[in-house]
Amino acid sequence: MLIGLDVGTSSMKALLVAPNGAVVASATREYTFETPRAGWAQTDPRIWRRAAIEVLRELAAHPRATGVQAIGLTGQMHGLCLAGDDGEPLAPAIMWNDQRSAPQCERLERSIGTAELIARTGNRLLPGFTAPKWAWVVEHEPSIARAARHVLLPKDDVRLALTGTAATDVSDASGMLLLDCANRRWSEPMCRDLGLSMDRLGTLHESHEPCAQLSAAAAAATGLPAGLPVVAGAGDQAAQALGTGIIDDGQVSCTIGTSGVVFAAGDRWRASPDGNLHAFCHAIPGRWHLMGVMLSAGGSLQWARSALTPDLASAAAQDGVDAYPRMLELAASVAPGADGLVFLPYLSGERSPHADPHARGALLGLTPAHTRAHLVRAVVEGITMGLVDGLDAMRAIGLTPRSIRLSGGGARSAWWRQLLTDAFAVRTSTVQVTDGGAYGAALLAGIGTGCWQDAAHATRHLREQDECTPAGSNPIPLERFRTAYRALRPWFHEVNR
Ligand code: XUL
Repeated sequence: MLIGLDVGTSSMKALLVAPNGAVVASATREYTFETPRAGWAQTDPRIWRRAAIEVLRELAAHPRATGVQAIGLTGQMHGLCLAGDDGEPLAPAIMWNDQRSAPQCERLERSIGTAELIARTGNRLLPGFTAPKWAWVVEHEPSIARAARHVLLPKDDVRLALTGTAATDVSDASGMLLLDCANRRWSEPMCRDLGLSMDRLGTLHESHEPCAQLSAAAAAATGLPAGLPVVAGAGDQAAQALGTGIIDDGQVSCTIGTSGVVFAAGDRWRASPDGNLHAFCHAIPGRWHLMGVMLSAGGSLQWARSALTPDLASAAAQDGVDAYPRMLELAASVAPGADGLVFLPYLSGERSPHADPHARGALLGLTPAHTRAHLVRAVVEGITMGLVDGLDAMRAIGLTPRSIRLSGGGARSAWWRQLLTDAFAVRTSTVQVTDGGAYGAALLAGIGTGCWQDAAHATRHLREQDECTPAGSNPIPLERFRTAYRALRPWFHEVNR
């Protein structure tokens, strides 16, 4: 048996996976994060550490959890966790969707230069990434920066708590902007310019490599055996891709969680020339990936749920079901194009293809004829068009996917899958496993400890399903969507700076 542990944005999830690839059990603990100021997103890492112990304890008590062979970790990328000499957190973790470091980003981008940043790391510097968050702490909390013995990503902070070992993997480290992604090693010039000695970053590994062992204290708290190997793991997007079988050159997926991601695997290193796609290491040795990330995909629908359809949300809660299918039914009740209404899904700023922390959400073109069904449809179409923007940025550099694998909450609705398929103008499908991130982490645990010889072997039991072909039945106002952002950009910048 293998365990995959996913330090998510809204919950901690652990999966117990059998050697035949079947998910045997899962455990989840929900939590929230704080937004003490507009654009900030932070949390106390002890919440993650506690939740990790709880879900592992729940799995360890499962009757089939005998002979657990290894744990793989994954989690939300880019967050900054600082721990002291004793391994205890020194400050709230600054999360991936936090935009406070926009000024540090602008300053570093000016002093280092965009072309040099891309040459060093393969990527542009964005406020979501870890390096500018560190620069923010150095500037605003210098005593905490000085006391920080460990500078870690969220899943690696949980690893430190479970094993006492500070380590990370190349896929998650890619999103720190401290890694030379082409050569899969720390970037000395980036660490130097950020004033960050490399020994604070932990040891760096390929994702499947065992790099730590469950401590006696964590073993006592969870009921799992002390010394259990913990493999390096992966950032949630690389783990999700592995867990849905996106491993070979040219394979593409689209995941709608809180964020929205278009992900293309590749067997050679390539950066996107203008840096509007992220170019990161994949969780497989010798593989990389390009990725377009929308900050608020499912996040926009979550906003609509509470702002536009709170009654649907509470009725669904009373019935013990999810509100989203009811919202999507409402959206489907009006015609494509929402009678001219356009939604820009940039509620928390945007990362790609617009690297713009100052962008904001907008509903444009309202008339008295619009009902809230139109508003909800416009939100779903806006999210969909944001994903098309990511895909088109890939097409612009010569990637032409033959099919796209859908995953995440957004892929559960047949209606939205058809809308996405029409908008992408490419065949789509899903796989039978729905917890892609935690599942990918469990696969890495199995690859690293000899259960499977490689990623191809570990993913051969995935089955494609829900095939969908473009029917042209959902025309979307893509041009209007794009011109709306271009027209509003100066206003966003004036108001939000
Ligand atoms: C990826 C990204 C998000 C977070 C949270 O670059 O920022 O997907 O990892 O899921």
